[in-house]
Amino acid sequence: MPDLFSPYSLKSVELRNRIAVPPMCQYSAEDGLPNDWHQVHYASLSRGGAGLVIVEATGVAPEGRISPGCLGFWSDEHTPGHAAIVKRINEGGAVPGIQLAHAGRKASANKPWEGDDHIAEDDPRGWQPIGPSAVPFGANLPRTPTEMTKDDIERVKADFVAATKRSVEAGYKWLELHFAHGYLAQSFWSPVANKRDDEYGGSPENRARFLLETIDAVKAVWPEDLPLTVRLGVIEYDGNDDKLVPESIELIKKMKDHGVDFVSVSVGFNTPEANIPWGPAFLAPVSQQIREEADIPVATAWGVDDPVLANKTIEDGQLDLVMVGRAHLANPHWSYDVAKKLGKDSPSWVLPTQYAHWLARYAPADYK
Ligand SMILES: Cc1cc2nc3c(=O)[nH]c(=O)nc-3n(C[C@H](O)[C@H](O)[C@H](O)COP(=O)(O)O)c2cc1C
Repeated sequence: MPDLFSPYSLKSVELRNRIAVPPMCQYSAEDGLPNDWHQVHYASLSRGGAGLVIVEATGVAPEGRISPGCLGFWSDEHTPGHAAIVKRINEGGAVPGIQLAHAGRKASANKPWEGDDHIAEDDPRGWQPIGPSAVPFGANLPRTPTEMTKDDIERVKADFVAATKRSVEAGYKWLELHFAHGYLAQSFWSPVANKRDDEYGGSPENRARFLLETIDAVKAVWPEDLPLTVRLGVIEYDGNDDKLVPESIELIKKMKDHGVDFVSVSVGFNTPEANIPWGPAFLAPVSQQIREEADIPVATAWGVDDPVLANKTIEDGQLDLVMVGRAHLANPHWSYDVAKKLGKDSPSWVLPTQYAHWLARYAPADYK
């Protein structure tokens, strides 16, 4: 029976344990370019001992960024900075992943610590968002997106393909398509955000079309031996989940048929009206349901950071990996701490020699 510290293999990739750092925007780039902040941040997360480090939501196009500070991958100029991140994650022993994203109607927002709302329409730092329909998210993100034409749809798919090719060139080994959190792909899937009357809207088959076409296009350029994964919001907590959850499971079965190897289960965040039952590992049961019904490996984030609980989700077969976000911001060596707390014989194995040598032999008792 695997536990949190059992290695995990998917296709040709082997993770040293079942702990993953999910994508977390740093809002610290200019023109989408990785800089020193990103290098140090991702190096320390990898050194900390996680098995997989997924680089934050990275815009496939400038207008696909959430904020002007988001990372991007829409030109070859971005490749050296990403290749440097990959090198650092590799040096720390984790597998380097990237989340490719288009923020859709939630794009053109201020950084969280500068308001987290849409940039004013007359502010030159912002841009006009696009979406499946001219329906705004509301609340802090009130801008009405421009409804995408078929040409827009083709262009965005091509942007995903180009960014995927560059991700391969940079050396990423795990691709996560950001189909969650109310961003572009998730909003195509959402009956709340998608009011189209063409083949991209209406029935679940039609609302799935943009997502499946993007998967097909990306799959053609992503190496067959590397994991192609998706983060999908499968549940909204808006009163309509009786319908949405089974539809999402059917969608995941189709995604699997189209070549998706793994799903990171999340919330839709398509409406500010949701009543989300935040709590420890609250998405673990629906993740397990997906794992069993769609027969696909899964992970989830959102409060899976209690060591005993995290380990139990793996031991009980609810999750294949745990995604631990904010706890890694507080402590990049979370894996080491957890190994200690779970009574692993020699927890320092998760650390690089420069640290492990001291902690294993000469550290105060509490750190052994
Ligand atoms: C600073 C920050 C940035 C985030 N950025 C992203 C992102 O780029 N892509 C994404 O899918 N989720 C993003 N999230 C959500 C996290 O991936 C994760 O789901 C969330 O933090 C819940 O997990 P936790 O309870 O372990 O923190 C972000 C969360 C935080 C705290």
